[in-house]
Amino acid sequence: MKSIKKCLFPAAGYGTRFLPATKSMPKEMLPIMTKPLIQYGVEEALSAGCVTMAIVTGRGKRAIEDHFDISYELEHQIKNTSKEHYLTEIRKLISQCTFTYTRQVEMKGLGHAILTGKSLIADEPFAVILADDLCDSKEKGVLSQMVEVYEKYGCCVVAIEEVPKEDTSKYGVIAGYKVDGRDDTYRVETMVEKPDPKDAPSNLAIIGRYILTPDIFEVIENTKAGKGGEIQITDALLEMAKQGKVIAYKFKGKRFDCGSVDGFVEATNYFYAKGDN
Ligand code: G1P
Repeated sequence: MKSIKKCLFPAAGYGTRFLPATKSMPKEMLPIMTKPLIQYGVEEALSAGCVTMAIVTGRGKRAIEDHFDISYELEHQIKNTSKEHYLTEIRKLISQCTFTYTRQVEMKGLGHAILTGKSLIADEPFAVILADDLCDSKEKGVLSQMVEVYEKYGCCVVAIEEVPKEDTSKYGVIAGYKVDGRDDTYRVETMVEKPDPKDAPSNLAIIGRYILTPDIFEVIENTKAGKGGEIQITDALLEMAKQGKVIAYKFKGKRFDCGSVDGFVEATNYFYAKGDN
């Protein structure tokens, strides 16, 4: 079985919920304390064993590329000053992984964004992180936990959490049966993108962490536009689930929806209290 070495970051979205802050700044660069959201994602991917960060960007997103690069002017300015340590962590991160980029020219949904990343991934299993879902866990990161699940089942894995039933319309929602006598691992039988609470098959919501096998690309290519007229990864994964090829894993840890102002403030308070910077 091939190991997971690449992580895809769909990062072309507009971040309209954060306007005007995101008018000229990518939403992925919004900071929790002193670190942009996407850096938390890259750190989580690296600690799960990924060494290539494949980022699907779009217009107005160049700050992401500059962030994961050396700024010689800045380095020169702060060299041998008391401020130099502020760059230690990001310098180390840049030296440990490779960043590759492609642009999503049209916004046609998450499934389409993932398909756009095909040229960066090629024929191997890969992880997907949606940077605005910020996760924190005491021991292993959420993606590391999922890699272990992938190594056991060798198929697609989605991370899930229980949400209040009235919130199902914000997420992809799965239903399935528990496997191996575990309370946290399900073989997915069905999944629906953003169902009304009355139609939701459960309250188990997919969060922004996926492990996908490369056969997903062909499935996405054949997936018609779904909810909101967009090509949904949930619909493509449903096709895989029908063949028994999707596991849902209830991760250990906390997740913040930093795509919403409430979740963003909650995450800021949490990391501030924790003493991270
Ligand atoms: C996307 C997916 C959805 C998933 C969610 C997790 O929705 O389409 O299935 O539950 O991410 O954050 P979005 O939040 O981009 O609208």
